Amino acid sequence: MHDQLASLYPQHLATLRERADQALAFGGFDHLVIAAGTPLRKFLDDQDYPFTVNPHFKHWLPLTDAPGSWIVYTPGSKPKLIFLQPRDYWHVVPQAPHGYWVEHFDISIVRNAADATAQLPTSHRAVIAASGDGVEANNPAAVLDYLHWHRSYKTSYELALMREASRIGTRAHRAAEASFRAGRSEFGIHLTYLAAARQTDAELPYSSIVGLNEHGAVLHYTSFDRVPPAHSRSFLIDAGASAAGYASDITRTYASAQAAEFQALIDSVDAAQQGFVAKVRAGQSYPELHIHAHHVLAGVLREHGFIRMSAESAVESGVSSTFFPHGLGHPIGLQVHDVAGFQQDEHGGSIARPAGHPYLRMTRVLEPGMVVTIEPGLYFIDMLLAELRDKPVAADIDWARVDAFRQYGGIRIEDDVVCTDSAPENLTRDAFALL
Ligand code: GLY
Ligand code: MN
Ligand code: MN
Repeated sequence: MHDQLASLYPQHLATLRERADQALAFGGFDHLVIAAGTPLRKFLDDQDYPFTVNPHFKHWLPLTDAPGSWIVYTPGSKPKLIFLQPRDYWHVVPQAPHGYWVEHFDISIVRNAADATAQLPTSHRAVIAASGDGVEANNPAAVLDYLHWHRSYKTSYELALMREASRIGTRAHRAAEASFRAGRSEFGIHLTYLAAARQTDAELPYSSIVGLNEHGAVLHYTSFDRVPPAHSRSFLIDAGASAAGYASDITRTYASAQAAEFQALIDSVDAAQQGFVAKVRAGQSYPELHIHAHHVLAGVLREHGFIRMSAESAVESGVSSTFFPHGLGHPIGLQVHDVAGFQQDEHGGSIARPAGHPYLRMTRVLEPGMVVTIEPGLYFIDMLLAELRDKPVAADIDWARVDAFRQYGGIRIEDDVVCTDSAPENLTRDAFALL
């Protein structure tokens, strides 16, 4: 892994430099200045929230825990890292820079934040930082739009890290499934997941969703019951992992050996999901794929006896949205919900979502190098089913069948998929297959 990263990194950095040259030219700036960031202090407290690095910073370097450090890039010059290694015996201070990337930077080690900011260029600078990072940030739209747009196209180095994030995540998913089959609580399964990933909660790209039975119907269920239910009928786990700041985002749903009817529905959603993954091809409109998914999932609802109307009318009447009430997926990379999912072009703008689909996070046409999630689901959500029951179309629904499935919560199957020049690369299924 290390040798592979070392060989891929120079091209990655060259790509980032070219992009930065162009972004600065568009914005009319001479320097790009990127803060690693500063930990956020809790209100009326002397404690900080877990540190989350500026994604622009970790784009350049595999450093996710260097608060107070800065990158300065001036076109034509070697990029500079101003690395804060405070004098501090209370905390672990960041290790001195080491690894395959250090030779590509001019590195200056400083002992306090003021010495770091004193080394920043003072004029014609595009500063990408949050308020509170110690320097007035301008976050120029022309620069950010250009960089965000091009972040959609992953370099070979980034894809290597995303494969690694998928390997870690799938390894932990396997352990979590075994923990479910052993009858553990949500909390117990969560701890199993962390142990197998060898990552802390704060290191994961997002809070894990670990739901047994009805809890699978809560799209972002993050409560973790400490006690196992009397019977674990079903299990939905949406959990990812990080590799040098790159995310994986993986969901699987399982049925107990006794829940054959739910397993059959999982199998249908799984087959549908693989069909959507196969359409992650250059030129495919993502919102059209999302609408296509509604039609296919409506067909699954009909085939399994939940609805009596045609798939077409289930989509037109909004019935499919009762059971599939979120978007098909989103861009993923340095952030689990990565930037530029709606962007019109490298100068900004926004592509609207299709009417009636307010939660879709990606409206672009797929191109080689993009990585997106494909995460269809079918859920039995009390609130949405109650709304549906009051509509005329309720007559075409088999409510006894629907009610029988509420005990399972819901199904989501989520993979991370690379769009290439030819067949898609499924990071998630490839990683599961390697286990
Ligand atoms: N885990 C959040 C998502 O799937 O988008
Ligand atoms: Mn996702
Ligand atoms: Mn997810």
